[in-house]
Amino acid sequence: MSGGDLTLGIETSCDDTAVAVLRGERGVLAELLSSQIRDHARFGGVVPEFAARKHLESILPLIDEALREAGVEGRDLSLIAVTCGPGLMGSLLVGVQTARALSRVWGTPLLGVNHLEGHMFAPLIDADDLSPPFLSLIVSGGHTEIVRVDAFGSYVLLGETRDDAAGEAYDKAAKVMGLPYPGGPEIDRLAALGNPEAYDFPIPLKHTGKIEFSFSGLKTALLWRVNKMREAEETLPLPDLCASFQRAVTEALIAKVSLAVEQTGIRNLSVSGGVAANSALREALRKNRAWKVWLPKPSRCTDNAVMIAMAGHNAWQRGVRSPVLTPDPSLSFA
Ligand SMILES: Nc1ncnc2c1ncn2[C@@H]1O[C@H](COP(=O)(O)OP(=O)(O)OP(=O)(O)O)[C@@H](O)[C@H]1O
Ligand SMILES: [Mg+2]
Repeated sequence: MSGGDLTLGIETSCDDTAVAVLRGERGVLAELLSSQIRDHARFGGVVPEFAARKHLESILPLIDEALREAGVEGRDLSLIAVTCGPGLMGSLLVGVQTARALSRVWGTPLLGVNHLEGHMFAPLIDADDLSPPFLSLIVSGGHTEIVRVDAFGSYVLLGETRDDAAGEAYDKAAKVMGLPYPGGPEIDRLAALGNPEAYDFPIPLKHTGKIEFSFSGLKTALLWRVNKMREAEETLPLPDLCASFQRAVTEALIAKVSLAVEQTGIRNLSVSGGVAANSALREALRKNRAWKVWLPKPSRCTDNAVMIAMAGHNAWQRGVRSPVLTPDPSLSFA
């Protein structure tokens, strides 16, 4: 194999253990994921220590299986790309230390990948018609930001959330309504049965003229509304509450994407992160004529290793090399 042709991607930044094998830039040979959602659901959120232990249990069998599925040997690999941050320290450590050990054993080059750069690459896996400059909206469990991609590796943060991330807002809103974790998919499902105009929740920071987000006030507005209904012993109209909450989040995101397009004159937009799987957001993004949007398929909106392999492969081709690789939970994107 020539250099950079077979990349093993490893992702363990939060609660998903994910492994992928990529041939060249976007040939997905294997894509596996061991989700811990059910393990953490009973605690109502991710428990970091527990997540790290679960990664330890799954990672080596998953890598074995991915290589078998791809029909390659560890020593055939040209690159190991592993998420090195941001994320949970214990979770990152498992991925990074595993990758370091395998890199030594197989003599394979190793590269650390920024998890958010990975998310940014997710829409590009199935599309070869998007190249910089473009705007990237990342809407995940821990981040909500708009980045200007001047070139791969050259990113400018245009704006981000002042408090909660959009995914976090969905998860907290679900908790308020007594829905299970993670809340985003559950709210999405119930919202399809409800009226988005039923409740007039505030659209956070809609008219500030700045590229910025805030979701904690919206969550409080929902909490206040739900508490009043509970005090009055009313049954919660979950579909209407979900649809109205989802409309407010979606409108807030669309307003700032519009502003970023207006301010930069860039009309090509990539969207990724777990909330990019949201059906109302996907529809609103697709029907707006002010931009052209690239979205990953829903299963690649949330954490996966294909995006890490692709981002790593791209960086390696650009000449990026990691010195001694250590996890860095506080890494920022731009
Ligand atoms: N259909 C959906 N609608 C709304 N939110 C969703 C949907 N599907 C998933 N989410 C949300 O996406 C989030 C998970 O996304 P992701 O895996 O990208 O986040 P993360 O990796 O935890 O965060 P980060 O990438 O910032 O470290 C959760 O908050 C979840 O509720
Ligand atoms: Mg993520």
